[in-house]
Amino acid sequence: MSRIAYVNGQYVPHRQAVVHIEDRGYQFADGVYEVCAISHGRLIDETLHLRRLARSLGELRIPPPMTEPALQCVLRETVRRNRVDHGHLYLQITRGVAPRDHAFPAGDAPPSLVVTVARQNRERLAKLAGTGVAVVTLPDQRWGRCDIKSIALLPNVLAKQTAREQGAYEAWLVDAQGYVTEGASTNAWIVDQQGRLRTRPLGSDILNGVTRQVLIGVLEAQDVALLEEAFTVAEVHTASEAFISSSTAILLPVIQIDGKKIGTGQPGPLTQRLRAAYRKYSAPIG
Ligand code: PDD
Repeated sequence: MSRIAYVNGQYVPHRQAVVHIEDRGYQFADGVYEVCAISHGRLIDETLHLRRLARSLGELRIPPPMTEPALQCVLRETVRRNRVDHGHLYLQITRGVAPRDHAFPAGDAPPSLVVTVARQNRERLAKLAGTGVAVVTLPDQRWGRCDIKSIALLPNVLAKQTAREQGAYEAWLVDAQGYVTEGASTNAWIVDQQGRLRTRPLGSDILNGVTRQVLIGVLEAQDVALLEEAFTVAEVHTASEAFISSSTAILLPVIQIDGKKIGTGQPGPLTQRLRAAYRKYSAPIG
């Protein structure tokens, strides 16, 4: 079956899905996106993704392309037409098509909306969850509004590529004070030397991950205390466990940082427990 994409009001075969060359997403990265997991054909944590999307759009003053219920219909219909049981949905909204000018276009250029879905290789993810992954640390070279899920991802792209070239799965980005902000496309967590689960508090330097939000609910239900406090690279070296979270990776144990073992060098027990508990709290909506 061929893949179907939604592009500005139409469902089209994936290979024919195109946008205008003067789309501001293409020229200025003037847009936002969401990535939402699909499980058993349903969107996971759809409400939380739509809430974050509305916030990103509002921060950038991009008008929503349609009402939220209409957008939900488009998202679900794109999943349905592709008959994807397990995978993820990508949606992107840009400020639309206009003659090139840095300032916002005058008048009311309609925003562009593109939605695609892709199957996920669940065996690969399960394997990584079993073995754990390596990360490398790199300077955080991103802008000051990482709380907005902007499509301007060049520093993230370069960091991820460096990680891959060094045989690692993810890059952990480090701020000017030596504290880890987050991964190139994931949030970062450790169990520190004192046995405390730690992650950086929300702010303009990290994304408010949906997986992070849901996991905080899981922690409460599991009676696990969380310390929202930034940690240094040195603290990762002495941590007993570490993991990353995202809608595509869920939770993946981190067993190595910059070539050095974390803890025993095996996926940690709390990480494994939380990964197992996560699904119960992560609900398809509607
Ligand atoms: N990335 N931090 C960054 C910089 C991210 O890009 C992401 C998600 C996360 C985790 O957010 P969530 O739990 O809502 O997926 C944190 C997506 C998956 C991506 O860019 O493909």
